[in-house]
Amino acid sequence: MNGRRSRVTRALVRLYPTAWRERHGDELSAILEACPVGPSLILDVVLGALDARLRAIRGHGAVEEQLAFMTAARSLSAVAAGPVPVAPTSSAWPEVQVLAGGGLSRRQLLRRSLGAAVGLWAVETGAGMIGFLWPNLSTGFGGPVTLGDMSAVAARPAVPGTSLRGGAPAYVSEARAYIQLVDPTLGFRDGIDTDGSGATTNVRALYQRCPHLGCRPNFCPSNYWFECPCHQSRYDRLGTKIAELGPAPRGMDRFAISVVGGILTVDTSKLTLGPLPIALGQPGIIPSRGGTCI
Ligand code: FES
Repeated sequence: MNGRRSRVTRALVRLYPTAWRERHGDELSAILEACPVGPSLILDVVLGALDARLRAIRGHGAVEEQLAFMTAARSLSAVAAGPVPVAPTSSAWPEVQVLAGGGLSRRQLLRRSLGAAVGLWAVETGAGMIGFLWPNLSTGFGGPVTLGDMSAVAARPAVPGTSLRGGAPAYVSEARAYIQLVDPTLGFRDGIDTDGSGATTNVRALYQRCPHLGCRPNFCPSNYWFECPCHQSRYDRLGTKIAELGPAPRGMDRFAISVVGGILTVDTSKLTLGPLPIALGQPGIIPSRGGTCI
């Protein structure tokens, strides 16, 4: 046990510059042997060594070196509950006298700054995580979003001059979704589609986030497909990915929806991943109506 403690002590003393060790190494070793070794003590020694090395690099003389020792020894003695080293009394060492009077040393300042920075980082990270993960259970994105009846939704076309009845989507920013009629000749039908397929309600709510890297695909009014501006993934009007066009691994994701008394609600807390891509010309792809927009 004592052998291990001696190895730890030697390792800690070796952190200091050679010239510093030659003058104060034995005294520091004695203090370390008397201290209970813990994280706080190790942090003290590391910061003290860093301080001593910085002073050595800047070429300060014996006064600064003595100050570094006093700074380390004061704190370590406090940990060990032992006597505080006697401060020099020469008027040539005003900074040391300030320390003896209870002022902040550079090492203490470093330590407190480090602690404050770590604490601030922890608070910011924690607050950000809570804000990101906290579900919005009442309204808005993260929970159910009620959008109104067919005419209210149709009044919000994704592209001016297009219409739900014509096969183009509405865009509802509060749900971050495109709303499409599966069969444009029909309106909303009462019911629930927990998988977002629209098989019961004739409505599909497509999440605006591209499954590749998260860009927002735009609806193209010339071909009636969605086209992602980032890497050119293409999706038909109901969000099915065209296999040959772009790197997205699947179709656009879909929110669960319900229609009650003709009123559409999109549940943005329940997302179903889009289906696998389908090759051009195969059943399941709605053909384009014209040229691309990108
Ligand atoms: S982000 Fe849409 S294709 Fe890359």
